[in-house]
Amino acid sequence: MDFKVTPWEITGKVDYDKLIKRFGTKRITPKLRSRIESAAKGSDVFIRRDVCFSHRDFDIALDEYLHGEKFFLYTGRGPSGKMHIGHLVPMLFTKWLQDAFDANLYIQITDDEKFLFKSDATQDAIERYANDNILDIAAVGFNPDKTFIFKDTEYIGHIYPLVERIAKKINYNTVKAVFGFTDSTNIGMISFPAIEIAPTMFEKARCVIPASIDQDPYWRVQRDIAEDLGYKKTAALHLKLLTALTGPEGKMSASMPETAIYLSDTPEEVHNKIMKYAFSGGQETKELHRKLGGNTDIDVSFQWLHYFLEQDDSKLEKIRNDYRSGRMLSGELKEIAIDKINALLKLHNKRRESAVKLVEQYMYKGKLAEEMWSKTYR
Ligand code: TYM
Repeated sequence: MDFKVTPWEITGKVDYDKLIKRFGTKRITPKLRSRIESAAKGSDVFIRRDVCFSHRDFDIALDEYLHGEKFFLYTGRGPSGKMHIGHLVPMLFTKWLQDAFDANLYIQITDDEKFLFKSDATQDAIERYANDNILDIAAVGFNPDKTFIFKDTEYIGHIYPLVERIAKKINYNTVKAVFGFTDSTNIGMISFPAIEIAPTMFEKARCVIPASIDQDPYWRVQRDIAEDLGYKKTAALHLKLLTALTGPEGKMSASMPETAIYLSDTPEEVHNKIMKYAFSGGQETKELHRKLGGNTDIDVSFQWLHYFLEQDDSKLEKIRNDYRSGRMLSGELKEIAIDKINALLKLHNKRRESAVKLVEQYMYKGKLAEEMWSKTYR
């Protein structure tokens, strides 16, 4: 079956090489990877392990940076439900980038988009999710002086003139072709891309967007119109989508609980979900597994360790070899994944408990937040 990737839908098993061709992005080559690591004076698990696999113009952003022109970062979240561990991936990566490149960061919460997109959504429910998600985002620990988190419905008055200028440059044919909108798409959705594009123009400097690849269609449209409006084409760093618990077809989806581990899941829930649903690359029987070994390319527990067993490359290699050779059984691999995910969630939830004060800074009181509230994009 062919696969499909849009900002709202992922089906089939994504072939990332094909996707690079379809979207017209560029691979992160080993050369670019080592340039990033040397400019950042350090490495990050998502860069090292090819989770961040593709980009638009990040090579240019890096050249500019090395010549003293800083870039700013922009990412976001659509609060359609509770956040799952897949949503944490771009946030963790963004934190690394912010620290490594000392960059301003804007985080857009698209409460408007999710109300418009989900037919059964109420504005009250979306607001509750937005506030809950913001706590999860704050728990990641961005720089309070250099981070602005905003909800569209609340900040829109400040950016509306900019949104208008963007909207005037984009016609219906373009969004129909890029996003697959049809005659029955509601008109809020049709004009929404102008709102997601606006933060790429919050500064005259180059914007760099760390996000998973599903959001790229917006950046394609931005790059067609930015220079006409007096801004730079945005750069982007694309991450692969974390596989659903149930297997390599499709992504982890917040609307299908059996495919996802939520940040709020208890250790027991994590244990039970992984034991019951985690798609295994192991053989039918123990005897066969010992003889033939497992397939780490499709095994979800292994895929997740690839993302989250961050510090220890040699330990990951040992697990890969042991599983492939049949020395390690599926149950044993699942236990390792359960321990790792539970450790991640324990740390996250501890940070979340003390994040309320940080939220206040990111949204209203921090240096960048105050600057943004005093500004209108006329
Ligand atoms: P949303 O809420 O669908 O996703 C938030 C971020 O998580 C990424 N993502 C995933 N990453 C790994 N594995 C997954 N299974 C997975 N599912 C989602 C998304 O790529 C995204 O980075 N419209 C956006 C909100 C938004 C935004 C932005 C996102 C506004 N401005 C700028 C990124 C950059 C949305 O609904 O994202």
